[in-house]
Amino acid sequence: MTDDELLARADAIAARAYAPYSNFSVGCAVLCRDGTVIEGVNVENGAYPLGVCAERTAFSRAMVEGYRPGDFVVAAVTASPCGGCRQWFAEMGLERVVFRNGGRVVEMTVDEILPEQFAL
Ligand code: THU
Repeated sequence: MTDDELLARADAIAARAYAPYSNFSVGCAVLCRDGTVIEGVNVENGAYPLGVCAERTAFSRAMVEGYRPGDFVVAAVTASPCGGCRQWFAEMGLERVVFRNGGRVVEMTVDEILPEQFAL
């Protein structure tokens, strides 16, 4: 699966976002080492801080399916990942991320998008 194909999956799944408060739909598609693609969308809540980003729903789904940190190659996101999701990428041992940002498509390693990572 190419980065472009993965980003197309993220674009398509964004239609399933639950974002009635921001009206900003985000989709994420994560490519696992075994070739499986796991998708996520942002899920908002009337108590605003309880909303969850698309990246986190995707990785949470992956955990439920039995995947573990180190099982992931690249995540495609329809928006520039927030700071908290960058920390999730680090925790998940993700290698790379490709995302849309103001009409551009950006590709970075997780070390580039979150340098000097916190690790417990
Ligand atoms: N959002 C994501 O899903 N991922 C990000 O990395 C950036 C922000 C969502 C959260 C919220 O539902 C909406 O975008 C507006 O902030």
